[in-house]
Amino acid sequence: MKIAVNTGGGDAPGLNAVIRGIVLAAHQKGWEIYGIKYGYQGLIDTKQIVHLTPEYVWDITNIGGTILGSAIRGDPFRYPVKKPDGNVVETDISGMVVSNFNALGFDALIVIGGDGSLRIASKFMEKGIPVIGIPKTIDNDISATAITFGFDSAVNTATEAIDKLHTTAKSHDRVMVVEVMGRYTGWIALHSGVSGSADVILIPEIPFDIEKVCNKIKQLEFIGQNYAIVVAAEGAMPVGGKVTVIEERPGGEVRLGGIGKKVADEIEDRTGKETRVIVLGHLQRGGAPTTFDRLLSLRFGTAAIRFIEAGMFGTMVALHPPDICAVPIEEAIGQMKSVPLDSDIIQTARSLGISFGD
Ligand code: F6P
Repeated sequence: MKIAVNTGGGDAPGLNAVIRGIVLAAHQKGWEIYGIKYGYQGLIDTKQIVHLTPEYVWDITNIGGTILGSAIRGDPFRYPVKKPDGNVVETDISGMVVSNFNALGFDALIVIGGDGSLRIASKFMEKGIPVIGIPKTIDNDISATAITFGFDSAVNTATEAIDKLHTTAKSHDRVMVVEVMGRYTGWIALHSGVSGSADVILIPEIPFDIEKVCNKIKQLEFIGQNYAIVVAAEGAMPVGGKVTVIEERPGGEVRLGGIGKKVADEIEDRTGKETRVIVLGHLQRGGAPTTFDRLLSLRFGTAAIRFIEAGMFGTMVALHPPDICAVPIEEAIGQMKSVPLDSDIIQTARSLGISFGD
């Protein structure tokens, strides 16, 4: 077997561990793995393909990022092509990817990516490329798997940051608003907020009322806590409001961010308390994966090889605790996985007195 692998979308701690799992498991079967650089780009410009031998991946389990590089744009079904008149037109060049894949003699493609990359993978499956998906995102918003690798590491980074902010908040009687990633879901905010002893957690799944947020801060003052920690997911929004966007990208895609500043300004105005905002940003995607993420990544990577051996194409590797199983890719991309409002962690937070601003 000659198998291609690529990594797409935002990087996440654990990507390299998945690649290592794939390469070593394949090597045991006498199969060869080739890394496609920069998402699907390496199947368009085939000079960007690298033979991944065991030596290549020997010591990369604990290294963040991806040795293959990643691409957020460059969907071959909507590829930006410069026309002779200088205009850039989105063009379907997926046929070229399929013929390059076949010409190079590949038998299967493993796509390690988030929702966007898995959607593209599913379209290539329809065009005849045998595909296996591996879910990746720090946001944990992919359906059909309990957890994606990268999430635990991002939560760890955010929790550590919140821990550190407690001391300044307390020393200066300040409100600290910490904006974390997560796109349209509040997984990172919820898990890090509860673990980091936040007083208020704002998530997209529960639109907030700023008055209630401020009431919580005033109540804390009443009982002698003159500071507060507010964790805001980047996708959090007020009741009846919309998400806050930093940048609109071509094709209608948006870059989220800025809700932390808005919330901080409102808190300062309404409570008179000195308030600061900290945006954790891409720190959450960097660094070494946690032990949990390393293990999950190695399990995902090696399972992909077992699923190829069993001919289970069109599926995605998923964690259904305690097992790793294969689910149809369609199940994963059909729907975003939001935080269930009746989940135990939401109930835990409420029992701890944490406010969601509702
Ligand atoms: O999906 C991962 C993620 O880090 C989101 O949490 C965030 O909204 C987005 O990617 C940021 O993307 P970029 O790296 O393009 O700024």
